[in-house]
Amino acid sequence: QILAPNITDEIRRLKKERNAVILVHNYQSREIQELGDFVGDSLGLAYKAKETDADVIVFCGVHFMAETAKIVNPNKIVVLPDANAGCSLEQSCPAPQLEKFLQVHAEKNYYVIAYINCSAGVKALSDCICTSGNAVKIVEAAPKDRPILFVPDQNLGSWVMEQTGRKMDLWQGACYVHVEFTRDSINQIKEEYPDAAVVAHPECTYAVRMLADVVCSTEKMVHYCLESPAETFIIVTESGMLHRLEREVPHKRFIPGPTGHCRCADCRYMKMNNLEKLHNCLLNLSPQVEMAEDIRKRAEKPILRMLELSR
Ligand code: 13P
Ligand code: SF4
Repeated sequence: QILAPNITDEIRRLKKERNAVILVHNYQSREIQELGDFVGDSLGLAYKAKETDADVIVFCGVHFMAETAKIVNPNKIVVLPDANAGCSLEQSCPAPQLEKFLQVHAEKNYYVIAYINCSAGVKALSDCICTSGNAVKIVEAAPKDRPILFVPDQNLGSWVMEQTGRKMDLWQGACYVHVEFTRDSINQIKEEYPDAAVVAHPECTYAVRMLADVVCSTEKMVHYCLESPAETFIIVTESGMLHRLEREVPHKRFIPGPTGHCRCADCRYMKMNNLEKLHNCLLNLSPQVEMAEDIRKRAEKPILRMLELSR
């Protein structure tokens, strides 16, 4: 009897056939993380995308991440399971609005630092890109004689100001997932687990960051939890992060940070991806990321500057 191959075997087979690499963000579901050649944060994934010699990049994350991979790999095919997997931060800063703002305030001669969670159009208007993993370094490396405009995340921006002491003008964008954690919801879970260390993403609000033992990118969370003497951690970020932590730090306990109205926080965009869509995008090599070459070229410069500066 010939058994029909299951979907994960089929994904592995197609991956080989296409000479593809599967890059997976830490917020993806457990089954997708298990199929990844590399699972990481936005910074690690950007480096992997830049370095790969595969013919096809399958990006399991959200659209701006796959777009970043395409910007640095114009001759490769970049596909993602669901082209509608957007990001509220990206939506909070449309490129035409930023362009207008920069024109109106042209006399300021802003040095624009864009958090990687933005469109290619916004990247093309920026001087340097950053991620949550290198934002402090990138801001510290910015020219001292120019004012900084930081787009689009006001929470990451204000956290970086606290860390560096450098004043910046902040675009008023936010991640709709991370602003759902509240001082009350985190205080309540701390009461339930008084010995737990609180680990929060810098996209959280100031009130929540104040309650954290550490504020860092998703990749740094793995290192922190491995090295910390604590046995239990309250993870104040998107729930997919717990899969990565449970795989890599199996001897410790992870509690999802609750929001004001839910036991854990899911990003609806990250969760649009599933095994079936992953299989289909490998099979059909669609949906692909594409963009106009002039935008791609302009967007590439600040990404390469970031990769160079954060080595
Ligand atoms: P990281 O770069 O820390 O993985 O964060 C990406 C993100 O989208 C956070 O919401
Ligand atoms: Fe965007 Fe927030 Fe989802 Fe991250 S968690 S992809 S910042 S909406």
